[in-house]
Amino acid sequence: MYRILVSDKLGAAGLELLEEAADAAYDMKTGLSKDELLAIMPEYDGLIIRSGTQADADVIAAGKNLKVIGRAGIGVDNIDLAAATKHGVVAMNTPGSNSVATAEQTMTLMLAVSRHTVPAHNSLAAREWNRAQFAGVELFGKTLGIVGFGRIGRLVAERAKAFGMTVLAHDPFVPAEDAAKVGVSLVELDEVLAQADYLTLHTAVTPETTKMINQAAIQKMKKGVVIINVARGKLIDEAALAEALQNGRVGAAALDVFVKEPPADDNPLLNLPNVLHTPHLGASTAEAQRNVATQIVNQVLDCLRGVETRNAVNSL
Ligand code: MLT
Repeated sequence: MYRILVSDKLGAAGLELLEEAADAAYDMKTGLSKDELLAIMPEYDGLIIRSGTQADADVIAAGKNLKVIGRAGIGVDNIDLAAATKHGVVAMNTPGSNSVATAEQTMTLMLAVSRHTVPAHNSLAAREWNRAQFAGVELFGKTLGIVGFGRIGRLVAERAKAFGMTVLAHDPFVPAEDAAKVGVSLVELDEVLAQADYLTLHTAVTPETTKMINQAAIQKMKKGVVIINVARGKLIDEAALAEALQNGRVGAAALDVFVKEPPADDNPLLNLPNVLHTPHLGASTAEAQRNVATQIVNQVLDCLRGVETRNAVNSL
């Protein structure tokens, strides 16, 4: 019997699959402290997580029977991949399963920040009628710069083009012909930074991309640029962005992700009038959560059963 620990909230459809598996038993234990997690790790063959659990080197080493870590989602920055490899543990994710949700959240934020939707709502809820105060700008005719032209970047590009935007993208791992097929010009990062009226990030956190949106990068952007981040907080130097939002170099930002989540009360980005923020909701749709949950459960079970290992992000 394979024993699986689900240590973050997982969609019901995934839990049903676990219930139905005759050769597997699972426990769902969320909100565990690190010590609590370390104490129970030796019991399990598989660990299923979302973004809440830190599968760090200690947790992986404590998993004496651990064979697979399944990330229900895309980002694997909460898994120590080197430690997983060292201990012979497969780490896997579910690429594509929540891409539409994340692309739609990008468009939601881009539109909402352009039309002051949240402050306008709050104003009317306070029984004010301030039409002039909330005049916005259109996406039509603007240039969208996309950093990272993977699945989500492409879905954002398709949607932005439907809104009449010109789309430029930067991705060192994608051939220019691939982007051209969907009507997107693939250019150097500096050109994206220089041309974008709206800049959206869809890349993973690596040593090269950490704090890629810093003071120097912001200096290369158009004054008044709007920055959207539904990828990872660590892509942005938050202090530099806060300063640029305050001095008007950056016109507005819409942020779904933060360096530390939840952000500290004194995070300088939280109290600015030109920032729209949401609590990491990019993948939070019913459809995406059903997709990631069923996909990761099937993958983890197939891996444990020796049937097939799919979407591994480390090589053993
Ligand atoms: C992901 O990486 O899949 C998204 O950020 C959603 C999540 O963290 O759950």
